[in-house]
Amino acid sequence: MKQASTAVRLPDVQQAPGYVRHEKLKAWVNEIAALTKPDNIYWCDGSQQEYDRLCNEMLKTGTLIRLNAEKRPESFLARSDPDDVARMEDRTFVCSKNKDDAGPNNNWIDPVEMKATMNRLFDGCMRGRTMYVIPFSMGPLGSHISHIGVELTDSPYVAVSMRVMTRIGTPVLDVLGNDGFFVPCVHSVGMPLSPGQKDVVWPSNKAEKWIVHFPEDKSIWSFGSGYGGNALLGKKCFALRIASIMAREQGWLAEHMLILGIQPPNGEKRYIAAAFPSACGKTNLAMLIPPNALPGWKVTTIGEDIAWIKPGKDGRLYAINPEAGAFGVEPGTSAKTNPNCLEALNRNVIYTNVAMTPDGDVWWEGLTKTPPAKLIDWQGKEWTPDCGRKAAHPNARFTVPAEQIPCIDNDWENPAGVPISAFLFGGRRSTTVPLVTEAKDWVSGVYQAATMASETTAASTGAQGVVRRDPFAMLPFCGYHFGDYFKHWLEVGAKLKNPPRVFGVNWFRLNQKGEFLWPGYGENMRVLKWIVERCEGKAGAEETPVGHAPRFEDIDFTGMDISREQFNELMSLDEGLWKKELQDHDTLFQSLGTRLPEALRDERKRRGASFA
Ligand code: OXD
Ligand code: MN
Repeated sequence: MKQASTAVRLPDVQQAPGYVRHEKLKAWVNEIAALTKPDNIYWCDGSQQEYDRLCNEMLKTGTLIRLNAEKRPESFLARSDPDDVARMEDRTFVCSKNKDDAGPNNNWIDPVEMKATMNRLFDGCMRGRTMYVIPFSMGPLGSHISHIGVELTDSPYVAVSMRVMTRIGTPVLDVLGNDGFFVPCVHSVGMPLSPGQKDVVWPSNKAEKWIVHFPEDKSIWSFGSGYGGNALLGKKCFALRIASIMAREQGWLAEHMLILGIQPPNGEKRYIAAAFPSACGKTNLAMLIPPNALPGWKVTTIGEDIAWIKPGKDGRLYAINPEAGAFGVEPGTSAKTNPNCLEALNRNVIYTNVAMTPDGDVWWEGLTKTPPAKLIDWQGKEWTPDCGRKAAHPNARFTVPAEQIPCIDNDWENPAGVPISAFLFGGRRSTTVPLVTEAKDWVSGVYQAATMASETTAASTGAQGVVRRDPFAMLPFCGYHFGDYFKHWLEVGAKLKNPPRVFGVNWFRLNQKGEFLWPGYGENMRVLKWIVERCEGKAGAEETPVGHAPRFEDIDFTGMDISREQFNELMSLDEGLWKKELQDHDTLFQSLGTRLPEALRDERKRRGASFA
């Protein structure tokens, strides 16, 4: 990027604190300051006092509203600009030198052109604001699986959110030392202030939004949005897009997966990593409470969105949650769907775009069956149940420390990671895909994950029921060509002594009347129990064209009202639908051209033959 020129006036507070020993980091911070021209530079130390001070400053500017101190202690509400409410996949770019390396799964612009665009946009974009320097660790400090980034941002909302979502500040600089590797992340809301200009509560750039990744530099530039994954650059940008590239280079996996611990009554605890696209109940599964009818089974959470997984010396895979907090969707979260999550949200939460009750508490669609008679909606307008508008935005979010999740696993910060026994891949499919199957080997597991798909929901896209192929639930997050990514998965598995078993699940199958065939939520434990027992070599199954499948008697249905016929319907394979499904796989595979691994082509042939 552009070098600092001596003619450029650097901000008054340009000196890094004395304890910063990393010369390259200091030089980069000064270089970006010379480009973006903030009024101040502030190095975050990560302390509670600093968090409190920044929150207090945002209370004064109106960016945060303090919630009722008795009902939601130390919690705040932020209302975003109505144009800045979600990740923007069409504004997200992977700018590798070679277009093919980004693959058909990414938007691409030549990096030289993109760097020129970034230099133009970022020139002076922080005028009138403070630039926060946020050293952050993705993963427990000092873990061999963790990696470090530094985010420069002109948003105090981002600074406090990063403190919840990652480990930030001085301890991270200690790990970084004099010359440690860090991923440079630059973020601006893209709304400089001229002298005397009054700020708005949610600054953003109406005209231009860009979320840009440079694979060769391992750098991230984000302009114009202050929301979620667009702005908290440790999450989707670093922990998935850039980390997936690093993982390929270094022989590990950076995945869009929750991690669960499952403790059988008298057996060994097993860890499962599970990938689901958005709107498939990932947070609910991550915090599942087993039904009373399965006494003694316990489920704990390591993470609810992202897993970094590295091979251990013993030939197994070990995973950490690179995040320190959860940034989850509110609507639909209730005492019925996710009591653990609800309990996590009773203090120390930054809520964004939920509705506010007259007594300063929060509400969102689905929280209670009957909505309150009056609310202030997510845009700050008066709301009544009959007004015809949603009270909370469908993508309203909570930002909460992971340690507040009641079922957090004792090992969630174990720097060695936890051993993974099984991978789970699931989507939302009203037809075709059975409740659960187990791939017969690693290659067919990779095939299953590569061809997974999910139906869009009206809440997420406005279109209901469109099947979108979402390999490994990584479509918006894989930082390179999907063909190379599948190859990497095949190679990682081939080197393992004891590869995890691979399962596919579908909680969303409908009957002819359009009703769900499976109750989901806590009852998913019955499927997890079968999976754990398969890992132990205990549970039975039959062979089908799409893998090993449980029979009615293989799943523990104690205390659940389900007939053999209902179960068979849930598990049925419709030949016509599967032929169409396989043609859809062909379309995906054709889009990957010569980079599609031969082993997956062969597996496709095998599957075709079994349905012939
Ligand atoms: C998320 C997502 O926000 O996957 O986690 O969309
Ligand atoms: Mn996610």
